[in-house]
Amino acid sequence: MEYIKSKIRDVYDFPKPGIIFRDLTTMFKDPRAMHIVGWDLAQLYRDKGVTKVVGIESRGFIGGAILAYEIGAGFVPARKPGKLPADTVSASFEKEYGTDTIEIHRDAITPDDVVVLHDDLLATGGTMAACYELVKSMNPRKIYINFIVELSALNGRKNLPADADVRSLIVY
Ligand code: PRP
Ligand code: HPA
Repeated sequence: MEYIKSKIRDVYDFPKPGIIFRDLTTMFKDPRAMHIVGWDLAQLYRDKGVTKVVGIESRGFIGGAILAYEIGAGFVPARKPGKLPADTVSASFEKEYGTDTIEIHRDAITPDDVVVLHDDLLATGGTMAACYELVKSMNPRKIYINFIVELSALNGRKNLPADADVRSLIVY
C-alpha cells in the first residue's frame, strides 16, 4: 500500500488555490502500482459473489474495469448525461457549482446481481451517493461501495448510506 501511495502525486493549488489535488495518473502509469491496485482491489471482493462492477465516469472506469476482470464480474459504466445510447435511469446530485447527473442503462443491473460501485476517489461523496441511489432503485441483491482513495478530511462517508459497506485502499 505504501508503494501505491508513493506513486500518487500531490499537486498544490489545483484546481483552485489552497487545494492539494491527489493525482492518480502517476500511479496508473506505473506498471507495478497498477498490478498491486488490481490485486488489492480484487482481494476485497473475491469471496463476495460479485456479478457486476459499476465504474463511474471517467476515472472510475480504470480501476472498475481492472477489478471486474480480476474477480470475473461484468463491467457497467455509470456515465455523464447523454452518452449512453439505450434506455437509461438517471440521478442528479449537488456538485460544488450547480448540479450534475449520472446515467446507467436500465437493463444493466438485474435483481440477481451483486454489485460493486467503484470510483477512483471519495471527496464529498455526492457522486457516489447518487450512484448508490440509482443502482439501489434497480433492486440488486447487494451493493458494495469501493474507492482507491478516500479523502477523510472531506467526510464524504457521511453522505453515503450509514449501513453501506464502504471499502477504500488508501485514506488521506
Ligand atoms: C471526481 C472523482 C469522483 C468525484 C468525487 O470526478 O473521480 O468521481 O469527483 O467527488 P465527490 O465525492 O465530491 O462527488 P470528476 O467529477 O472530477 O470527473 P472525472 O472522473 O471525469 O474527472
Ligand atoms: N484528487 C482527485 N480528484 C478529486 C480530488 C483530488 O484531490 N478532490 C476532488 N476530486
